[in-house]
Amino acid sequence: MLNIALPKGRLGDSVYKLLDKLGYNCPEINNETRKLVFENKEKGVRYLLVKPSDVAVYVEKGAADIGVVGSDVLKEGDNDVFELLDLNMGKCKMCIAAKNGYEENMSLPLRVATKYPNTAYKYFNSISRRIEIIKLNGSIELAPILGLSDVILDIVETGSTLKGNDLSVIKDIDKISARLISNKSSYQFKKDNVDRIVNKINEIVLGE
Ligand code: PRP
Repeated sequence: MLNIALPKGRLGDSVYKLLDKLGYNCPEINNETRKLVFENKEKGVRYLLVKPSDVAVYVEKGAADIGVVGSDVLKEGDNDVFELLDLNMGKCKMCIAAKNGYEENMSLPLRVATKYPNTAYKYFNSISRRIEIIKLNGSIELAPILGLSDVILDIVETGSTLKGNDLSVIKDIDKISARLISNKSSYQFKKDNVDRIVNKINEIVLGE
């Protein structure tokens, strides 16, 4: 049985559709239920639906053999896993954004609201800018509007959340996409199973 951690939400839905096409279907998953584990014994797969930010933890600890996670979450968490493939899905950017017309005061530490404190420290350290992190878990765009922060460091996909809140991008700092990751022991002990999925994705989806 191969245990696959999928991020709940849009990305997980698209990845499931992809795996379904490749023969790893588990029709029950489409039912409106609160179930978090779905199994297809015949196909040898068990899907675990987890919070996107927890996928790499499940995979690192071996509760899941493989999983799908955004490169933003992967970099932030620094979990000990193998990164097998860039799935070329869930594409967006990591950006610094601020209120329209914002002017930075270089003599003060920059107040940065974000869900990604490690990424923020790493980036601002690389440009030698002193910061104060305001760690939030969502609706990050509110912070500069309310004067809680000077800027935000967050993902931007369509840009509509920024636009709807009178914010704009100051700097793009990274490109983001979904990655297939594997537990290190699973990659050794379930190598055939893992390789089969990787090869199918490569052949059919990425056209290689
Ligand atoms: C993410 C992100 C932005 C938004 C960007 O939030 O934190 O707020 O999506 O997408 P857009 O550029 O297409 O508008 P999410 O929807 O995950 O909700 P959250 O605020 O609860 O984190």
